[in-house]
Amino acid sequence: MNDSSYAQHLSRLQAQAESALARSGFDALLIAAGIEKYAFLDDRPYLFQPNPHFKHWLPLTAHPHSWLLVRPGHKPRLVYYQPDDFWHVPPADPSGEWLPHVELCVIGRPEDALAHLRVPGRLAIIGEADAALEGLVPNNPAALLNMLHWQRAVKSGYELEQMRAASRRAVPAHRAAKAAFEAGASELDIHRAYLAASGHTDRDLPYSNIVALNEHGAVLHYQYQDPTPPAQSRSLLIDAGAQVNGYASDITRTWSGRDEYFDALLAAMEAAQLALVDEVRASVDYRDIHLSTHRRIAAILAEQGIVRMSAEALVEQHVTSTFFPHGIGHLLGLQVHDIGGFMADDSGALAPKPEGHPYLRLTRRLEPGMVVTIEPGLYFIPTLLDKLRATPAGSAVNWSLVEHLARFGGVRIEDDVVCRSDGAPENLTRDAFAVVG
Ligand code: GLY
Ligand code: MN
Ligand code: MN
Repeated sequence: MNDSSYAQHLSRLQAQAESALARSGFDALLIAAGIEKYAFLDDRPYLFQPNPHFKHWLPLTAHPHSWLLVRPGHKPRLVYYQPDDFWHVPPADPSGEWLPHVELCVIGRPEDALAHLRVPGRLAIIGEADAALEGLVPNNPAALLNMLHWQRAVKSGYELEQMRAASRRAVPAHRAAKAAFEAGASELDIHRAYLAASGHTDRDLPYSNIVALNEHGAVLHYQYQDPTPPAQSRSLLIDAGAQVNGYASDITRTWSGRDEYFDALLAAMEAAQLALVDEVRASVDYRDIHLSTHRRIAAILAEQGIVRMSAEALVEQHVTSTFFPHGIGHLLGLQVHDIGGFMADDSGALAPKPEGHPYLRLTRRLEPGMVVTIEPGLYFIPTLLDKLRATPAGSAVNWSLVEHLARFGGVRIEDDVVCRSDGAPENLTRDAFAVVG
């Protein structure tokens, strides 16, 4: 961690919080890290998910029952929960470059936080309901949250450093996954190869890996990892990221090299994806990049002879949505789908999705410092194809080619991209592939 960039990040957060408190009529901000949750009728905890507001300030991602108190004119106060626990490994003694930037109070019992958090004035308390302590119940004021969520889309220099590192961490893992696929490994073994090369365990991943061989590539969020290798490994679609100090990368690659038609589709999608990345420019409406994707997918469907219609008609008759049913991407950062994607401003007004595009997750105008994914896809999804077959456009589909390509599932290519104030965007993913051996 670069100390001065972290210090700048923190002063920016402090200034943003002070302004949001003043504008929403509060005197202090309390942020609960969160609590561990347990399975129903059981004593097994679910994987702890920290409050993203907490890890925005501090690179502490496994610290349930900790709190942060932010007040105008004061150093942030960190209430650090470190129980005496012989069943589990408690959080280590506080250390790190962040330490001098906080007023530290270490506690051994969750309720001991109260003594350090009760301050005069109106309190904005951000957290889940079950993080409540006696008299300190999260109220999550909407006006204040809207301001913070609006600002969070634009990353600080410190945050961009974490995200570059998160992309670099995923690269050897993607390479290992590709090698495992080429050796005929099962989805489970490809997943294991990914984990081994990233140095992550399942619990460290920013989201569950999607490791999809052949037809499984047509399931957008395919959630299993088959332990048995298929008789023939035709394609691999792997959507997998990494995490650094609470910041995520979100990367998809599709590999094949086994079929002339599918490889031509892959090459066309690669070219389209790169062109779409280049559309990430300051003041561009992200909805326009999504609509541009539909035009590019239409051109590919026509050029590859998958549907015998003009590109214009393919868009007009919504045929492209059969093959590309999701959004072109989303905000990325502390969460894989970072919050705030639908905001028109910091008041909570919404920027609507384009009609007929229910799965787009980002409708904002791009600003320098925003990080977004660009992830076009083209899939052969049986249930959507069945619906298309029943429409007038169904007769224009080259069904024998579709049947052939469906054995490969589909294509998705996803990079993480920083919008810059001028010129071409920074492609965190491609840059990482270029520098990491
Ligand atoms: N990995 C989930 C997504 O790409 O949005
Ligand atoms: Mn994504
Ligand atoms: Mn992804």
